[in-house]
Amino acid sequence: MVLVIDFGGQYSQLIARRIRECGVYAELLHHDADLEQIRSRRPAGIVLSGGPASVYSEGAPALRPELLELGVPVLGICYGMQVMVHALGGRVESADRGEFGRTDLELTDSGGRLLAGLPPQQQCWMSHRDSVFEPPEGFSALASSPGSPVAACESREKGLYGIQFHPEVVHTPYGTQILDRFLREIAGCEGAWSPESVISEQVERIRAQVGDGGVICGLSGGVDSATAAAIVHRALGDQLTCVLVDHGLMRKNEADQVVEAFDHLGARLIHVSAQDRFLDRLAGVDDPERKRKIIGEEFIRVFEEQARALPDVRFLVQGTLYSDVIESGGDGRSADTIKSHHNVGGLPEDLGLELVEPLRMLFKDEVRAVASELGLPDRVVWRQPFPGPGLAIRIVGGEVTAERLEILREADAILQEEVKAAGLYRELWQSFCVLPVVRSVGVQGDGRTYAYPIVIRAVTSQDAMTADWARLPYDLLERVSARIINEVSHVNRVALDVSSKPPATIEWE
Ligand code: XMP
Repeated sequence: MVLVIDFGGQYSQLIARRIRECGVYAELLHHDADLEQIRSRRPAGIVLSGGPASVYSEGAPALRPELLELGVPVLGICYGMQVMVHALGGRVESADRGEFGRTDLELTDSGGRLLAGLPPQQQCWMSHRDSVFEPPEGFSALASSPGSPVAACESREKGLYGIQFHPEVVHTPYGTQILDRFLREIAGCEGAWSPESVISEQVERIRAQVGDGGVICGLSGGVDSATAAAIVHRALGDQLTCVLVDHGLMRKNEADQVVEAFDHLGARLIHVSAQDRFLDRLAGVDDPERKRKIIGEEFIRVFEEQARALPDVRFLVQGTLYSDVIESGGDGRSADTIKSHHNVGGLPEDLGLELVEPLRMLFKDEVRAVASELGLPDRVVWRQPFPGPGLAIRIVGGEVTAERLEILREADAILQEEVKAAGLYRELWQSFCVLPVVRSVGVQGDGRTYAYPIVIRAVTSQDAMTADWARLPYDLLERVSARIINEVSHVNRVALDVSSKPPATIEWE
């Protein structure tokens, strides 16, 4: 494995993902992580990430010299290179102007060990103001660019390497090749990390953790809980019971598709139809926070009833992802760092069950690869994210009723169908319909209508922290609008939400 030491760069997670794409397992650690913790992972190599600071600014994250003395090769990227060069006595200075974006790179000699075999001239992606003007003693310069006299350097003897540009972004065409050289040729990694190896490793870990205890898993309809359950099922078979609490707030056919997929895997699944309970409790409620609270509480109640009815359940499966672990400041190992925001539809920790989290070290795209490998169908694997409180938070400004749910579900199904037919489903982070509880006048046939509008919300995003409204083609919008108005009763108008996040949010409530 390789450790990526995070100096706060916007691409740090991406570095870890790219390394994993090279078949080498990588973890991200904060730059002031405990040295003992770093040593105990016994990394084959260390990558120092970029970061926003200048090595000269006050409070700039420092590089602890011990990291360079672990006896494993180190690759500094951008700030990671500067901080290493600075620590070893090289010259880092602020240049007249920075370099941002596509930049020409010229290799010196034959590129040394790190850049061997690459074209003498190539493009790379830069994002820096300070530059390295002289490498430390014992280092040789490997490349330069218009604004970086030393754009790459190395000391083979010390096993230290640095590049000013970003190999992890697609705009550096040889970036992956450079990372791959560092990993295989220099750090001696084997590259055996893959979805299959993740599964077999997790299967062993789960068996060791659980022994012959009973395990329960709540399925939400999403890819994370489905994948977590499928791995645990692979490990433990019938020791696992999955519970699908159908709160009646899911998308059209969603519950059935999950039931079908788990039937196919041969997993034990309890499908609880609890629509009426949820609708009863939501009667008369239109405040968003109250809705969330009610749904969250009711969900836990139903789930607990099921868990209690099963003998000998001691473990609970959760689909926590690596990005949640990083976001909540976790170090990737301790068990106490589950993201608390947005966990409506999640479960409290005081169920008294020990957690099993087989996806804890995986990024979302890796979860999808694992899900496919486990035999989950594409429509579960590629499902867009969906909020725990479901369609209830997409009926806004009024009470959630069975009729409104039906309208929204039908409209949403049409949108999904057309977005998929246009080949855009996987490109969009989310696409869905919202039903504002207002009515407007329209005309249909010879008659006047007084009906609801449906709002189309489609966004692109990397991580849901920010999002942009998707520029859906006009002809797609036209088809969706015509179909929704013609096929869904009580709707006479379709509108498009053209707000980005911030200042809007992705969901309307
Ligand atoms: P917002 O609306 O805050 O949403 O931009 C960001 C992402 O989180 C999802 N979301 C939720 N997920 N329970 C969830 O599991 C919730 O209560 C919840 N609220 C929002 C939303 O769909 C988007 O992907």
